Amino acid sequence: MSKKKQPRNRKANAAAIGKISTPAPSSTESSKYQLPLVWLMPLVAMLLVAIMFLVRRTKVSASPLPTTPPVLDAKFVGAAECATCHEQENSRWRGSHHQLAMQPATDSTVLGDFSHASFDNNGVTTTFSRNGSKFMVRTDGPDGALHDYEIGYTFGVYPLQQYLIAMPGGRLQALGIAWDSRTRERGGQRWFFLYPGQKITARDTRHWTGIDQNWNYMCADCHSTNLRKNYDSRTRTFSTAYAEIDVSCEACHGPGSNHMSWAKKQGDWQKFDATQSLAIAL
Ligand code: HEC
Ligand code: HEC
Ligand code: HEC
Repeated sequence: MSKKKQPRNRKANAAAIGKISTPAPSSTESSKYQLPLVWLMPLVAMLLVAIMFLVRRTKVSASPLPTTPPVLDAKFVGAAECATCHEQENSRWRGSHHQLAMQPATDSTVLGDFSHASFDNNGVTTTFSRNGSKFMVRTDGPDGALHDYEIGYTFGVYPLQQYLIAMPGGRLQALGIAWDSRTRERGGQRWFFLYPGQKITARDTRHWTGIDQNWNYMCADCHSTNLRKNYDSRTRTFSTAYAEIDVSCEACHGPGSNHMSWAKKQGDWQKFDATQSLAIAL
């Protein structure tokens, strides 16, 4: 680009200079020749600026850009790591609805009544029971007939708790009968149906075996940390994965590995003045 323009500019300059210099100006004519000079000076200045700009541009694009050290992609480290420095936040998070958003079904996590409690809905009697350490439910399956299912996970804590059941293809399905975990005085401590008065059969998408109650697709994103659905459309199966089962620190704050290595470089940060370390962070 600059190569093409430069000769043309020089030619123009030469022509302009030629125009001024050729006629030997007599003293009476001198004022006549001063006028184009007034016009010419800014023009020459503009040309010079343009040439300088072009030369600079070609120089910049030819030399490599200044290199900055690459920032490593941050990885998820887990709440236990964050807790080593942020104990106060960690203790506030423990026991919160975020931490309890999803848990494996155990004696300490299941709130519902599984001592042969039964619940009638849409002409189906659902029964909740124990089989050793397992939490079982007998209810209508995808074919509409009664089957026994093991509860895999609890979902939420209060004012209700739902239960997830493993189904073929890596699916977890949320049971439509939930536990009202409020106190008895508030009308809780009972099983209830999430769609009261509606006749939802096995063919309905809202039935617990239907797509609307599919955890992988409908719920997991919000209730766990760094969720990857991993759906394979060819085999129509899920191999869903998460960094942490619950809504952990990094679900909100983002993956923390870079922050951690920064913090570790600050040494014993507990002794740090907050304003000082913030200035470093910025
Ligand atoms: C090795 C210690 C260490 C670890 C581990 C650590 N942090 Fe920090 N974190 C710090 C320090 C130091 C600061 C700056 C504190 C300050 O400004 O007072 C900080 C600041 C923060 C802040 C901003 C606080 C503010 O006032 O703006 C957040 C949010 C945070 N950390 C979240 C996390 C999360 C989430 C994790 C886990 C992934 C984590 N930290 C792990 C040391 C650590
Ligand atoms: C868009 C995000 C999002 C999706 C998707 C989602 N949830 Fe939630 N869920 C939340 C939030 C936020 C709360 C807390 C709401 C509150 O306390 O008012 C919550 C609360 C709950 C609770 C109440 C228990 C508690 O401890 O607060 C249950 C049960 C629940 N969700 C089940 C489900 C099921 C089942 C699905 C899928 C069919 C699902 N959620 C999909 C965000 C979501
Ligand atoms: C549901 C989202 C969420 C989760 C989960 C969460 N945080 Fe936070 N965190 C926030 C928000 C929002 C703020 C800003 C609060 C404010 O300014 O009042 C915050 C503030 C902080 C701060 C700054 C200090 C402060 O008190 O203002 C630190 C440090 C922090 N979180 C660490 C953690 C750690 C460690 C965990 C896990 C144990 C965690 N957070 C879990 C959303 C979350």
